[in-house]
Amino acid sequence: MAKNERQEEETTQFVDSGNNLKRLSLYDPPVAVLGIFLIILSVILCFIYLDYSEALGAVYRVPNWLQFPNDMGRRLDFLKEEGNGCDVFDGEWVWDEDYPLYLSKDCTFIEQSFNCIQNGRPDVRFTKWRWQPRECDLPRFDGKLLLEKLRNKRVVFAGDSLGRNQWESMLCLLASAVAEKDSVYEVNGSLIRKQRQGTLVFKFQGYNCTLEFYWSPYLVHLDQPSSGAPTSNKKVRSTLKLDLLDPISRKWRDADVLVLNSGHWWTSHMFEQLFSLTHRGLHFQVGQEVKMNMSMEEAYRKSMETVMQWIKNEVNTNKTQIFFRTYEPRHFLFGEWNTGGRCNEEKLPELGAAPVLSLPLWTHIQFELAANKILPNRTYDLLNITEMSARRKDGHMSVYYLASHRAPMKRQDCSHWCLPGVPDSWNELLYAFFLKHQATRL
Ligand SMILES: *[C@@H]1O[C@H](CO)[C@@H](O)[C@H](O)[C@H]1NC(C)=O
Ligand SMILES: *[C@@H]1O[C@H](CO)[C@@H](O)[C@H](O)[C@H]1NC(C)=O
Ligand SMILES: *[C@@H]1O[C@H](CO)[C@@H](O)[C@H](O)[C@H]1NC(C)=O
Ligand SMILES: *[C@@H]1O[C@H](CO)[C@@H](O)[C@H](O)[C@H]1NC(C)=O
Ligand SMILES: *[C@@H]1O[C@H](CO)[C@@H](O)[C@H](O)[C@H]1NC(C)=O
Ligand SMILES: *[C@@H]1O[C@H](CO)[C@@H](O)[C@H](O)[C@H]1NC(C)=O
Repeated sequence: MAKNERQEEETTQFVDSGNNLKRLSLYDPPVAVLGIFLIILSVILCFIYLDYSEALGAVYRVPNWLQFPNDMGRRLDFLKEEGNGCDVFDGEWVWDEDYPLYLSKDCTFIEQSFNCIQNGRPDVRFTKWRWQPRECDLPRFDGKLLLEKLRNKRVVFAGDSLGRNQWESMLCLLASAVAEKDSVYEVNGSLIRKQRQGTLVFKFQGYNCTLEFYWSPYLVHLDQPSSGAPTSNKKVRSTLKLDLLDPISRKWRDADVLVLNSGHWWTSHMFEQLFSLTHRGLHFQVGQEVKMNMSMEEAYRKSMETVMQWIKNEVNTNKTQIFFRTYEPRHFLFGEWNTGGRCNEEKLPELGAAPVLSLPLWTHIQFELAANKILPNRTYDLLNITEMSARRKDGHMSVYYLASHRAPMKRQDCSHWCLPGVPDSWNELLYAFFLKHQATRL
């Protein structure tokens, strides 16, 4: 009962927040001027549009499944074989009444902590922003179409809890396109939990398709000797073998779509913790050699080289489409995750096209070094979502990750993202690249 009320509230809030925005707009003089400007602009654009769609029809032969009724004349050419020219990561967040793509009440699988609205987050505006590339348009996410294209296929996400965040977003996006809810299930009946660090395999029975998640925060092999094992050096209890991929990778290799991420666990705030735990002191290892002094940057580059080498030698990229998603920024203000940092007052994204992050971050630099060395002919798609996500300080769970009550103000989560929310946009980009891949293979 209480749940139903919450759901109704949620719907009302969507309507309310829309009205609030409109009210704001009407009484704000600069916005009124902007409004007039927009009307003039849209008249001009109308003319351009009419010309453009005619030209598009004449010049290009768009595959059937790329033709959505509302997309005619939109800038979708980059999805075609000859069109490479759009940097989809260069753009801005725009308000869109048609968002979110699903309601949290319709996605019953996700781990409870991601479900901010059900957990009582009162403002729902954060769900209404769409990512708009500057030089092209993204196809609107169509879960039915994607499932149809994924028939008899395996989609695998491997990485850390933010990888799981994105995987759960994909689960919601796809599950909301399936009418028969019972036909989507975890193969062993496992529930998705925050602390769960294993494997989860969801089956979409009607499509014989699986959406799988493998916990592997470093992607390379984290070797944790059993507690009784003798070690020559008491401080070295476990090592990160930078030259070996996580053994679980044997399950990823034959996937049809593989989405990798690693970054969050390489940042100093995570790593120093693992290093400093005297009983579990973590060290890098290459071959037989324990590297007591290797820098984190160097170790990350080495691990990415190992990933690239694996792609090059072990993966049939004719079959497997590989994505690598870059580091997802965090938004702790006035502290860190363990020192009272917070983001609960953030209600709006950073708007406008100016970058908000002083890129390049070292993970990007080291990634590019590894990629250029081992796999210069990129046989994977980079989901470079760092900059676009840096503008979404409003998208985190903050204090709304507990079901029963708000978390203490001092214990906020400004790393993970509410669902529906920002990871849905990462998946819309993934969707666009997937369609492009399909189109260029025909
Ligand atoms: C289901 O998909 C798997 C690949 O993921 C394939 O091996 C199998 O043959 C498919 N089953 C049917 C009945 O098509
Ligand atoms: C499901 O259970 C079987 C049998 O215990 C096990 O072999 C398999 O790895 C499990 N699969 C997942 C995805 O947990
Ligand atoms: C490692 O670093 C420590 C302190 O920075 C130094 O004393 C030691 O000689 C270094 N060891 C090696 C093998 O470079
Ligand atoms: C992938 O496809 C290309 C072109 O069709 C072919 O030359 C190559 O041998 C294929 N590679 C594998 C591993 O099947
Ligand atoms: C990702 O994009 C940013 C610009 O937004 C760039 O500085 C960075 O090098 C890119 N990362 C990679 C790995 O290409
Ligand atoms: C990469 O592509 C270039 C031409 O585009 C080719 O000459 C080169 O051999 C390729 N390198 C690898 C490692 O496949």
